[in-house]
Amino acid sequence: MVQETRVNLSDLVMPYFIIHGEGIKREIPALPGQFHYTVDQLLLECQELKALGIQGILLFGLPDHKDPVGSEAYHQAGIVQQAVRAVKANYPELTVITDVCLCQYTDHGHCGVIHDHAIDNDQSLELLAQTALSHAQAGADLVAPSDMMDGRVLRIRQVLDEHGFQETGIMSYSVKYASAFYGPFRSAAGSTPQFGDRRAYQMDPANSREALMEAALDVTEGADMLMVKPAVHYLDVIKSLKENFSLPVAAYHVSGEYAMLKVAAREGLLDEERAMVETLVGLKRAGADILLTYFAKDMAAWLRRNPQ
Ligand code: PBG
Repeated sequence: MVQETRVNLSDLVMPYFIIHGEGIKREIPALPGQFHYTVDQLLLECQELKALGIQGILLFGLPDHKDPVGSEAYHQAGIVQQAVRAVKANYPELTVITDVCLCQYTDHGHCGVIHDHAIDNDQSLELLAQTALSHAQAGADLVAPSDMMDGRVLRIRQVLDEHGFQETGIMSYSVKYASAFYGPFRSAAGSTPQFGDRRAYQMDPANSREALMEAALDVTEGADMLMVKPAVHYLDVIKSLKENFSLPVAAYHVSGEYAMLKVAAREGLLDEERAMVETLVGLKRAGADILLTYFAKDMAAWLRRNPQ
């Protein structure tokens, strides 16, 4: 009766890494308990999600081929586009969110186009908007730009609207820090920058007023949801977004945050389930409405055993 905060099934979004091919479900060494899936295997997962009551997935793609402009990111037959079409055809009720970024698709591993060893913000915007449009055309419910280029929410909104996708929402990675905790993801997605780092476009972990500015820009540009990423070291930022804006706030408990708990638990240093619940409840207590987490399935199973 006196518990102030609860994690609900409907808060949980499960991320997936999709690969080309058929019949493959391969464990990701950097992310214990997570797998690379071909589209047919993803559909089997969706069946499990349905049984667990999870309502949302976030899709990342691993292309067959990388090039300087990340062509597969916005190709109609790209891996994410194929996955979205298959999921929506079989599980129309599942909310499909797609990560919109070029870093998995570029041979240099940066999130946009490079000129003279520097990111070209405005040229990148067009390719990101084309990526978002191709996801919407495949049937995505929400596109989630994670590139951190300036002005991308506005450009994506314009292009979606021009093509009749007024109903496709934008979950913006509004506050995305240049973090060490993306390490396992970059290994899983093959998206480590080949030179330099992402500090020209991702945020300085020391800044919180800048987080408010980034979020305010996204609100005026047309975002439907705001995201803070990583989550655990940025609870103050989650709280201030919740207090300052009326849009839903999503928290992304990222790969490194997840892997730390998994590895510590494997070593017998902590109780994995208790650590998971404490972490996710903490994100809710800070103000998160939506939890993007590799623990989504485990948390859903826990909720089933421990009705709230
Ligand atoms: C793509 C992207 C990243 C993550 C989500 N989208 C990696 C990065 O910015 O380097 C990280 C997610 C995670 O660590 O779980 N830009």
